[in-house]
Amino acid sequence: MASPLDSATPQIDSLSIRDGLDGLTPSRIMTLYRRAPLLRPVRNPKKVWSMFENASLVLTAWNDGDLVGIARVLTDGVLYSYLCDLAVEPDVQRLGVGKTLISEILERCEGTELLLRDSDISAGYYEYLGFNRVDNAWVMSG
Ligand SMILES: CC(C)(COP(=O)(O)OP(=O)(O)OC[C@H]1O[C@@H](n2cnc3c(N)ncnc32)[C@H](O)[C@@H]1OP(=O)(O)O)[C@@H](O)C(=O)NCCC(=O)NCCS
Repeated sequence: MASPLDSATPQIDSLSIRDGLDGLTPSRIMTLYRRAPLLRPVRNPKKVWSMFENASLVLTAWNDGDLVGIARVLTDGVLYSYLCDLAVEPDVQRLGVGKTLISEILERCEGTELLLRDSDISAGYYEYLGFNRVDNAWVMSG
């Protein structure tokens, strides 16, 4: 079945996607999370940076030098990839930035199953993009 991800062309002409930590700082990441909003129980800049250094894949979206989107993935490269955090700057939400980041992730993690944890704010988004809800997931807090 066709998915909106098949036509992931952002409606921002100057949008560019970067792979890796280029241009990122803990402060930029935390500002974007706060604004999106994406609530994460981490305020310590060193810990925030570790979350990104230890990720398998970090993709960022930029509009005229401004960070407008971010995504982090942990993957074994074979079976499973976990999309940890996806956040888009509110001024440019619903213009295809999230869709573009997910589409790039699916390309880089091809062959693996992409898993994620949903939030109330993004309710409906992943279903709309063609993700399937699973009811056999379990979580234990560390
Ligand atoms: C959820 C979020 C990442 C979506 O990113 P985005 O760049 O705004 O969304 P996109 O422009 O890629 O949306 C793609 C499509 O999904 C639709 N869409 C966006 N949010 C939606 C929602 N909550 N429910 C249903 N559809 C939605 C868009 O209208 C768009 O439709 P189109 O393809 O027909 O034009 C972004 O809104 C965000 O950062 N929210 C706050 C943080 C958050 O909840 N992150 C997810 C944590 S799991």
